[in-house]
Amino acid sequence: MTETLRVDRDPAGYALVTLDRPKALNALNLQTLNEVVTAFAELDADPSVSVIVITGSEKAFAAGADIKEMKDITFSEAYASDWFAGWDAVKRVRKPIIAAVSGFALGGGCELAMMCDILLASDTAKFGQPEIKLGVLPGMGGSQRLTRAVGKAKAMDMCLTGRTIDAEEAERAGLVSRIIPADELLDETKKIATEVAGMSTPATMMVKESINRSFETSLSEGILFERRVFHATFATHDQSEGMAAFAEKRKPNFTDS
Ligand code: HXC
Repeated sequence: MTETLRVDRDPAGYALVTLDRPKALNALNLQTLNEVVTAFAELDADPSVSVIVITGSEKAFAAGADIKEMKDITFSEAYASDWFAGWDAVKRVRKPIIAAVSGFALGGGCELAMMCDILLASDTAKFGQPEIKLGVLPGMGGSQRLTRAVGKAKAMDMCLTGRTIDAEEAERAGLVSRIIPADELLDETKKIATEVAGMSTPATMMVKESINRSFETSLSEGILFERRVFHATFATHDQSEGMAAFAEKRKPNFTDS
């Protein structure tokens, strides 16, 4: 039973995780952290789920880590508990995760969105790393993932001034892949999730693994990794099905989980 989020599985093969702490604009406290990573791990292991979607409310995807919860912790407590290291579990999820962001995605909220694989923004979305205004800095990967996503110039600007950027600027900078009108965000996201869930699940997982590998390795090692994984797809039923369907001019029916 979760208290800070809802999990809904759809027969189309995706699951929708909705952050639900409206009074705190979905601020990410430790309970939310535990509930998100537990839900993600369960969905990752569930053969009926091929894609995970995470979203918030129209006003806020998440307004950051819960400032009220962390404001009085000491250095010793933060260090000994490795405060927020639990979020590292998100990067162990092997199935694609889509973040559908409307409203505020600030601090940890922006960082959670950046942990995901497809980042969709409504036209009301606002992204920022305002931690500097609290006398701290991003602590859930923001200085690293934002820099990789938008480059040093904009990452420095955002992290040093704490300014937020709107959806247009986020798309221009390469932080998000699409902007969708706010009242269509959920429906469009579900369509995209259904589309990806209809692909070969092992192939989508391999795409995720291969693209993420590009952040961790050299170009030639990454290309070699991609080629070996490409070769491995020839061991799947879905590769035979996908190529046969093309030759027979019909839609493929991917069944590998
Ligand atoms: C706790 C939060 C919160 C947060 C909002 N709330 N953000 N509570 N942690 N991050 C609460 C408010 O206290 C308030 O509760 C309620 O949500 C509504 O917020 P308002 O401020 O009244 O709404 P609004 O005027 O619309 O302003 C929205 C906002 C503002 C611009 C998003 O709330 C804001 O600046 N929030 C903080 C954003 C931020 O600094 N995020 C980074 C956090 S640090 P009450 O009960 O008072 O009405 C971080 C570090 C990550 O993420 C890494 C750590 C290791």
